[in-house]
Amino acid sequence: MTQIPQVYPAGFFFIFSCLKPLSLNCLTLYLIPMIRFSKTIGSSLLVAALGANLLQAEDGANYNKAKKAELRELATTFFGVLPDAMPGSENDNDYRRHLGEKLYFDTLLSKNNTQSCNSCHRVDQGLGGVDNAPGSTGAFGGVGDRNAPTVLNAGFQLAQFWDGRAADLQAQAKGPVLNPGEMAMPSEEAVLDRLRMDDTYRELFVKAFPDAETALTYDNMAEAIAAFERTLITKDRFDDFQRGDDEALSDLELKGLETFTGIGCTTCHTGPLLGGGMYQKVGLVHPYENFSDLGREAVTKDEDDKYKFKVPTLRNVAITGPYFHDGGVSTLNFAVRKMAYMQLGMELSTEQTEAIVAFLGALTDKGR
Ligand code: HEC
Ligand code: HEC
Repeated sequence: MTQIPQVYPAGFFFIFSCLKPLSLNCLTLYLIPMIRFSKTIGSSLLVAALGANLLQAEDGANYNKAKKAELRELATTFFGVLPDAMPGSENDNDYRRHLGEKLYFDTLLSKNNTQSCNSCHRVDQGLGGVDNAPGSTGAFGGVGDRNAPTVLNAGFQLAQFWDGRAADLQAQAKGPVLNPGEMAMPSEEAVLDRLRMDDTYRELFVKAFPDAETALTYDNMAEAIAAFERTLITKDRFDDFQRGDDEALSDLELKGLETFTGIGCTTCHTGPLLGGGMYQKVGLVHPYENFSDLGREAVTKDEDDKYKFKVPTLRNVAITGPYFHDGGVSTLNFAVRKMAYMQLGMELSTEQTEAIVAFLGALTDKGR
């Protein structure tokens, strides 16, 4: 299984920090455990302040071969490339993936035959696995409070949904079909009735689940959709850079990578997805304006989880706007500045913002 580690042992960072005393890498890595293992605002401010100083020291750097090698090392320590296979894909086969793809695009799964998964998570026409709307419109026209996250690379995350209430893709796929605000089918049985009436589906389910006593079940429907979603792994220039291609990123994008790691965005946006590995409070240093969604607290009933959301992946983020759990922020530029202010207590310069936005643009799937 190629599961992304969710928490890095503190010792890991301390060991690294000692290898290169007083270098940018050293200090950034040294500071991570401070914010990761402490909940106090004070320490995150300290991280931000020190990060800003480090960055100034790096200003005016030009990216020669040695500098690129240093940045590559930093990148592979914080992020790494996306694995080639998703957790849970061991039992997938072409029949299952094909059935899942058909289901994913089929409006038969919604009560009035108007909606498919793809209506809100567009993976066709080079789109980013989202509907590019603040809240999604359901089969009967109602608009939900939460922004539809991308399905691209979704199965690499620690859990599904903004609040992590579904453990994996299969568990997730059972939800929207029966959700009255989404596809609005009245019951699992009603979904199965529709599928059973279709000769092609009857045949496909048997092929996809040959060992099952009953192939056409609600669980198997979700499993097939998940098998299709596990194929949605993207390939981008940032991974080309991490794999050794010195020409993959422009100087501005490299500057963005350096800024992103230097100021501490990596406190939360780490691992191959640059996110997807933990829950964090939105508005850690300065509050976010929308207080209506309690986030993870609604799932755990733990007050410490108030306003905590899954840190979203930043892969493909340039094409998945609008941003945040409520879709409240329309541009990536503003999302970046707002993050720095809310989560790190710092105001980014125009140059810093533009560099980070350029770097995030290098995380878009080359096929999109
Ligand atoms: C009406 C629009 C709509 C439809 C139809 C819909 N979704 Fe979603 N989807 C959303 C929204 C909104 C969320 C976020 C909800 C939340 O976090 O509470 C979401 C969340 C998800 C997630 C979690 C991603 C993450 O990063 O946490 C996955 C995966 C997903 N949907 C797949 C599907 C599949 C598969 C289908 C079809 C069976 C489907 N969706 C149908 C709107 C929709
Ligand atoms: C303390 C943790 C933390 C830090 C530090 C942090 N983020 Fe975030 N980031 C989050 C969380 C949590 C969200 C989701 C917020 C929400 O949906 O309300 C998020 C959302 C985002 C989004 C929107 C993604 C989307 O799909 O909606 C972007 C872009 C982003 N962060 C970039 C950055 C950048 C750039 C930095 C550094 C300046 C940064 N973040 C620092 C936790 C963090």
